[in-house]
Order: sequence, then structure tokens, then C-alpha cells
Amino acid sequence: MSQPPEDREWLSFRQALEKAIGVPLGPYKEPQMKRRLASIMTRRALGNWKEFTAAIAADMQLLIDVRDTLTINVSEFFRQPERFADLERVQFPRLLSENPRLKIWSAGCSIGCEPYTLAMILNEINPSGSHTIIATDVDMPILNRAREGKGYHPGEVRATPAHYLKKYFVNEGSTYAVRDEIRRKVTFRRHDLLSDPYPQDLDLILCRNVVIYFTDQAKAQIYSGFGKALRPGGLLFVGGSEMIMRSHDMGFRAAGTSLYQRAA
Ligand SMILES: C[S@@+](CC[C@H](N)C(=O)[O-])C[C@H]1O[C@@H](n2cnc3c(N)ncnc32)[C@H](O)[C@@H]1O
Repeated sequence: MSQPPEDREWLSFRQALEKAIGVPLGPYKEPQMKRRLASIMTRRALGNWKEFTAAIAADMQLLIDVRDTLTINVSEFFRQPERFADLERVQFPRLLSENPRLKIWSAGCSIGCEPYTLAMILNEINPSGSHTIIATDVDMPILNRAREGKGYHPGEVRATPAHYLKKYFVNEGSTYAVRDEIRRKVTFRRHDLLSDPYPQDLDLILCRNVVIYFTDQAKAQIYSGFGKALRPGGLLFVGGSEMIMRSHDMGFRAAGTSLYQRAA
């Protein structure tokens, strides 16, 4: 059966986009993706997918806008501060009692707020510790920004407790920079959660507000990969609105708000 022209045009747009940004889009939720793209089409007065395909081939800035729209990079330090307070007071002390040199992965770290938040907390509670914090994202330009650790807007530090803000940031006029001693504690690298091998033997994985873009099948693949990447007793920290379906089948047990523990 032949496809309607609208579907054919959508598929060739998607293929052209995947090729140009180097990210396979099959595992992303299609209705959500189309809604986001439709708002760009309206803004740019593009009438259909065919026109949109020609436009992304001709306009690099449009291509960058489209990529950023699909992999939304919004983040902030201490996002959901009560969850980080729990990490500081309860979870990190337990993890440290089991392993004094923690191996942590912030997956889908965007502009770096999340891994830097972890580095600051660990520096507070275990200043002499030597821990590994790996921070990854699929979006290379955003990773370069994260690595620089500066240019953060007041909205991105608004949940940061006052003593952390004072101790670990430099105020640079209208923006904030993370102090070098913290910047040096995080290793950034590009990693696609859908196709690259996962780091192993981890004590803690943070993957918050990333899988919301993915189909249920892709989510299950990612969570099961996290289950294998954690050491027994290790923790997975997810976003506020996220829940793992059939977590037991993937070797997890619920361990508190937004937390899952790899079964022993
Ligand atoms: C909304 S941000 C989340 C930032 C941070 N985890 C937080 O909660 O504040 C989502 C991030 O997921 C990244 N992302 C999207 N698809 C990805 C993929 N396939 N592999 C790795 N990261 C991906 C995006 O580039 C973006 O930086």
C-alpha cells in the first residue's frame, strides 16, 4: 500500500534531519517531536515538510534551532533541591560507607548543572575523597558549554543553597561561573544513550528529564542498561515526573522518591 504524500514528506524530512544532526530519531516520541517542529514551521512560515527539508539544508542556524528544540537542554543547579538534600544527608553517606571512592554518571547532563551540583555536595561532605564523576550528553555544543562551566544565568542558580553559591561560584556580572576546583572534578564526554556502550560498575547514575522524550521501548532499553551498569546496591536517580515500569524485572527496587536501587 502506498503512503500518503504527507507521510512520505515527513519521512524524508526526518531522514534528512537525522543525517544532518547525526542523531537517530526513531526512539523519540513522534507526536511530541512533530508538535515542537510544527511551532518552528509556523514561526518560519514554512508550509509543509518538503519546504522544511529544503530550509534545513540551506540554513545552518535553523538546523541548530531544530536540534536544540528536539533535545531541549533546560537545566539548573540543585534542580528539586529537596532531592539533593536527601542525597547529601542520607544517600551519599550510605554509598560512601560501602565504597569510599564513588563512581558516578550524570547521563544527559546538558549544560553541566547536575554533575557540578554533585561535585559540590561531595566536596562538602567528603572534601578529601577522590571520586569519579562522568557527565555525558549527545549534544556536542552543549557539552562544550558545560565543560567551560560559566555563563550561568540567575535562573539556573536560583535553587542553589546560599552557602554553596557563595563558596563554589564566581559572580561575573550578570552570570555565574563554577570555581575551577569544582570544574576539574567532572569529566565530560559525548555519549548517545541509545547507541553507545554504558560505563560500568557505577555507584550512582543520575538520568533526570532525559527519557521523557523517548518511546516506551527506548526507555525500557535505557533503564535495563542502567540496571546492568550499576553495582549491586548502587542507585539510579530519575526526574520528578519519571517512574520505571516493571522496575523489578530490570533488577531494581524502589528506594525512595525518584530513587531506584539495583538489587543485590
Ligand atoms: C532537559 S535536559 C536534562 C538536563 C539535566 N539532566 C536536568 O535534569 O537538569 C535533557 C538532555 O538530554 C539530552 N539528550 C537527548 N537525547 C539524548 C540521547 N539520545 N543521549 C544522551 N543525551 C540525550 C539533551 O541533549 C539534553 O541536554
